[in-house]
Amino acid sequence: MRSAALSAACAAALTLVLAGCGTGGYTSGGSQGAGKQLFTKACGGCHTLTDAGTAGTIGPNLDDAFAQARAVGMTSETFTQVVHDQIWYPITTTSTGAPGMPKIDTTLPLCADAKPGSFCVEDQGAASDDIAAYVGAVAGTGKSAEKPTSGKAIFQTVGCAGCHTLADAGTTGTVGPNLDDAKPSKERVIDRVTNGKGAMPSFSSSLDPQQIQAVADYVSSAAGR
Ligand code: HEC
Ligand code: HEC
Repeated sequence: MRSAALSAACAAALTLVLAGCGTGGYTSGGSQGAGKQLFTKACGGCHTLTDAGTAGTIGPNLDDAFAQARAVGMTSETFTQVVHDQIWYPITTTSTGAPGMPKIDTTLPLCADAKPGSFCVEDQGAASDDIAAYVGAVAGTGKSAEKPTSGKAIFQTVGCAGCHTLADAGTTGTVGPNLDDAKPSKERVIDRVTNGKGAMPSFSSSLDPQQIQAVADYVSSAAGR
């Protein structure tokens, strides 16, 4: 449900960007350094983001939320727009009735209104630009995290999980074939991951050859177990 929400948001953001629509305040000049500090204070309590060292679990893990979209070719610019829109126009009540994300006056309270000594910002526009530039650049890149080398970790983190069911990895995606049923050979996994096919993207630019070998070894031996 969360990745569906993200895809919808991405599609909306893409449309905005492609249409050159400036009303959302498309951001390109935010400062990532300032954004990191602000993110840690304003967002990290609810969101996990490896680069910022935050581990909140009330909202979605932002590395997971963006890794899959990044793997299929979405750019940092698009994510920056998505994050910016999410800060300004959060869905405050979700379809499940669970509390969504608070409004900007709660996440980035203005100093003019805040209690003395509590976290606040002078300018919500600048603060949201900075945070969006920062999160857009780092979320889902795995830049600060160790690059996964075990086949299972690769499978679970680079996007395969969102599309494929594989019991050993604990994944339940249904966009692509159930790999426990397909029981692909190692050669077949290497071919699909390298070249993609149909709705499956190629991973040849996001995974190095050792990682492709590792994930192929893993899938061909774990599938159907
Ligand atoms: C009180 C907790 C809370 C705070 C603080 C918070 N968020 Fe969220 N955030 C959430 C929840 C809950 C959701 C999921 C809402 C939904 O499902 O629509 C969410 C969703 C998101 C999403 C969409 C992720 C996806 O998978 O679609 C982004 C991006 C995001 N938040 C960024 C931020 C940023 C940036 C900040 C800081 C300015 C922030 N959040 C502060 C709780 C929070
Ligand atoms: C965006 C969704 C998506 C992602 C991400 C994805 N796949 Fe796929 N995958 C598919 C679809 C759809 C097919 C069926 C393609 C076809 O044959 O037309 C497929 C086919 C395959 C097959 C062939 C299965 C068979 O029928 O023998 C393998 C193996 C596979 N994927 C492994 C992976 C691995 C490993 C990853 C991660 C590195 C991955 N996929 C990421 C959607 C995805």
